[in-house]
Amino acid sequence: MKLNVLMVCLGNICRSPLAEGILKSKVNPKFITVDSAGTGGYHIGNPPDPRSVAIAALHGVDISKQKCRQFVKADFDLFDYIFVMDSDNYRNVVKLSSTQQQADKVRLLLSEVNDGAPEVPDPYYGDKDGFATVYKLINAACTTIATRLTHNNYGEQS
Ligand code: 4NP
Repeated sequence: MKLNVLMVCLGNICRSPLAEGILKSKVNPKFITVDSAGTGGYHIGNPPDPRSVAIAALHGVDISKQKCRQFVKADFDLFDYIFVMDSDNYRNVVKLSSTQQQADKVRLLLSEVNDGAPEVPDPYYGDKDGFATVYKLINAACTTIATRLTHNNYGEQS
């Protein structure tokens, strides 16, 4: 069975494009598809922020061809797992769910790693260092997610 994973942030130009590119780089595309979207509609159709493109490229991940899109209710039907970057994203996505089953698909990305940081901070108004921090946080979570998806033990106690 193919699994579909959606990464969500506010603008879909900084954090979730990184999460999409990083997770894609760690999984077999035959079995797992990864996409991203934003809860806001400010940058629809735009490529990722150049600072995200640069930090990804530094790690050998090409996200330059992604295009921003907004999260829509139909995404609940298309995706098995919806990972959000912060609690605002969580609220805004869960608000659009129609059933508990849909709401249960939404998880904070960093709940996957137990090092204390609850949210991937929004780096948009910060400097380049913020993007390096965000990359590290997302990369650690995606390593765990890739392992769980690949071993089909998502959500189970390990
Ligand atoms: P992102 O960052 O949610 O990580 O893509 C942002 C990008 C743009 C804006 C806010 C956050 N904005 O307000 O335009």
